[in-house]
Amino acid sequence: MEEANKVPHDDIRSFGRRHGRKLSARQQGLLANVLPRLRIDLEQPPPENATSLFATDAKDVWLEIGFGGGEHLIWQAEHHPNVGLIGCEPYLDGVVKVLDAVETKGLKNIRVLPDDARRLLRWLPDQSISRVFILFPDPWPKKRHWKRRLVSTQFLATLARVLKPGAELRLATDIGDYARTSLLAFRASPGYAWLAAGPSDWRERTPDWPPTRYEQKAIAQGRRPVYLRFRWLGSAQFEQKAPK
Ligand SMILES: C[S@@+](CC[C@H](N)C(=O)[O-])C[C@H]1O[C@@H](n2cnc3c(N)ncnc32)[C@H](O)[C@@H]1O
Repeated sequence: MEEANKVPHDDIRSFGRRHGRKLSARQQGLLANVLPRLRIDLEQPPPENATSLFATDAKDVWLEIGFGGGEHLIWQAEHHPNVGLIGCEPYLDGVVKVLDAVETKGLKNIRVLPDDARRLLRWLPDQSISRVFILFPDPWPKKRHWKRRLVSTQFLATLARVLKPGAELRLATDIGDYARTSLLAFRASPGYAWLAAGPSDWRERTPDWPPTRYEQKAIAQGRRPVYLRFRWLGSAQFEQKAPK
């Protein structure tokens, strides 16, 4: 498939495969006929207001990075019809699942980037996103691969530019060391506050946070996820320094 955009970037690759099994004729049809309507075109100039990316009356825009099979993205879109949901996922089999749900459920508030979310982050207007979900990012457990982990101080600085002051960022992982390096990255990134008053705040999901496929597998294999929520407080000084 044609790459979703050609904006050059030198981000180290944070995801694994882009393709799985051969797609069925129906799935190929969804890619050919539905994706062009939903895909965000980074070749176009960014809108002044990200809500205009949606045909519906979106009051806010939320972003899910690495939606996998899309079950969380779809749940949020169904439960928040007044919010525009952008989902980024380079794995095409997952993208097709979201296209299928959009068609069968008639969802009007989903746009998709079938590619690296960092490209979108550099394109979006300042202060345009009110909530971000990063659920079970690829763990890259081997030390020599840690540089591939998505959550880093550099990533958080890139993200900060597009966050509205007061925006919430939700991060889940079943890998203790990923939680540790992420918390260190957040602590080193001015403007983010961890919203945890006690252990239940990171041991349990909030009711508006449905499980994902990866999470269910992790639990079945005996790993206990952590659920981290952060608030972007905004900081004029920090935003000036954030790379575009
Ligand atoms: C371990 S899977 C988890 C999928 C899903 N969130 C879940 O919990 O079931 C991580 C996903 O993040 C995607 N991913 C990794 N790096 C990404 C990036 N830079 N931009 C967008 N998605 C990314 C991968 O393709 C993969 O599907």
